[in-house]
Amino acid sequence: MAQIIRISESGKYENQEVTIQGWLYNKRSSGKIRFLLVRDGSAIIQCVVVKNEVSEDVFERTELLTQETSLRVTGKLVADKRAPIGYELHVSDIEIIQIAQDYPITPKEHGVDFLMDHRHLWIRSKRQHAILRIRHEIIKAAQDFFNNRDFIKVDSPIFTPNAAEGTTTLFKTDYFGSPAYLTQSGQLYAEAACMAFGRVYCFGPTFRAEKSKTRRHLTEFWMIEPEVAFFDLQDDMQLAEEFVSYIVQTVLKNRKQELETLERDTTKLEKVSPPFPKIHYNEAVEILKKNGVEFTYGDDFGGADETVLSDQFEKPVIVHHYPAEVKAFYMKRDPEEPQFALAMDMLAPEGYGEIIGGSQREDDYDTLLQRIREHNLSEEAFKWYLDLRKYGSVPHSGFGLGIERTVAWITGVKHVRETIPFPRLMQRIYP
Ligand code: 4AD
Ligand code: MG
Repeated sequence: MAQIIRISESGKYENQEVTIQGWLYNKRSSGKIRFLLVRDGSAIIQCVVVKNEVSEDVFERTELLTQETSLRVTGKLVADKRAPIGYELHVSDIEIIQIAQDYPITPKEHGVDFLMDHRHLWIRSKRQHAILRIRHEIIKAAQDFFNNRDFIKVDSPIFTPNAAEGTTTLFKTDYFGSPAYLTQSGQLYAEAACMAFGRVYCFGPTFRAEKSKTRRHLTEFWMIEPEVAFFDLQDDMQLAEEFVSYIVQTVLKNRKQELETLERDTTKLEKVSPPFPKIHYNEAVEILKKNGVEFTYGDDFGGADETVLSDQFEKPVIVHHYPAEVKAFYMKRDPEEPQFALAMDMLAPEGYGEIIGGSQREDDYDTLLQRIREHNLSEEAFKWYLDLRKYGSVPHSGFGLGIERTVAWITGVKHVRETIPFPRLMQRIYP
C-alpha cells in the first residue's frame, strides 16, 4: 500500500505511487492489458494493469473482479488528457476486499420499478450519483445564502399537535396514547423563532399524505423555510428571487461536470437572475384564457396550468395575490382587496411547476382567531401560535422552497422520485 487518496484529489499526486480504495465499476481487456474502472465515491478512474509489469498473482486477480467488487488498487498516477478526470492509474498491486456476486444492476437497461426496488444500489450509478451531488450542492447553497445574511437556523419539530397546511394531508401517529401528526411545514414554529431572532430559517423533512401520483409529489420531502420579522410580501418576493438565483448560479459554477453527465441544457439556467417576472393572480388567469385553458376563476392552479404559465417566461415567474379562499388560514389578506391573500408562489420554468410557496402572515390576533375558527382548527392547539399576535406582533413574511422539485428542475430530471436518496411515494416505502 502507498498513501491512500480520494480519486478526486489525483491532481495533487501526479507521478506518485498512491492507493485508491473503492469498487469496480466496469472492466475490459485488450490482449495483455486489463482496464479497470474504479469508483470511490468521489470520481471514477481508469486503472491499467499490464501483464508483464505486475506479478502473475496480481494479473490473475483481475479475472476475479466482478462489478461492485470492493478493492484497493495501488499504482502510479499518470496524466492522461483523454481521461475524464485527467489521470490514469498504472497498477502495481490489487487487494480484493470482497467479491460481489451477481450485482443486479448491470450496464443493460432496467425498468424504473426494478431500479426503484434496488434504490439502495442504484444510487451508485453515474446518473443517480450526479443528481445526488447536485442535491447536496443545492442544500449547501441554500443554507449558505441564509447564513451569509445573518439568519439563524432554528429547526421546527417533526411531531406536532396540529395541522399547518390543511387537515386532509396529515399523517397521524400515536403519541403515547394521544394523536400527533408528522409536520407538513416548519413554518408556524419558524414564526415563533423569527419573533425571537428577527430572521430565521428551518430546514427539515416534511410530510404530506397526498393521494397524488404525479411526478411532482412525494409523501416525504425536504423544505427550507425562511421567516423574517418586519417583512412584507414585496420583501418576501425579493428574497425568494435572490435566493433561487443564488442557488442556480452556485450549481452552475460548482457542478459543471455533473450537469454534463446529466446532459442538462444549461442555457435557460444561466438566465436565472433577479428580477423575476411577477404577476397578479388575475393576470395569470388572463394568460390561461389566452392560451385556451379551461379554468374556473377563483380556483388554485393545477400542474398543467402552472406549466402553461411558466412557459410564457424564460425565468421563474412569481404569481401573487391568490384568492384567499384557496390558501392557508395563516395568510394575511390584502387590506385593499380582501378577497386576495398576500400570497406568492414561484413557478419554475420548463414545466417543473411550483417550487416555492410563501406569504405575508396574518399578524392581528382577532383576525387570526377568526380564521382558525373558520377553518375548524383547534383553538387549544393553536394557543401558542396566537400568543405571537399578543406579545409584540409585527408584520412578517416567509416562504418554503421544496428541495426535490428544485433538484428536479436544475438537473432536468422528469420525476421527483430520482431527486431524493430514498423516495417515499404513495405506493412506495421500500427500500
Ligand atoms: O406551498 P407549500 O404547501 O407551502 C408551505 O408549506 C408553507 N408553509 C411554506 C412557508 O411559507 N414557510 O409548500 C412549499 C413547497 C412547494 O412550493 C413545493 O416546492 C414543496 O414545498 N412541496 C412538495 N414537494 C414535493 N412533494 C410534495 N407533496 C410537496 N408539497 C409541497
Ligand atoms: Mg403551495
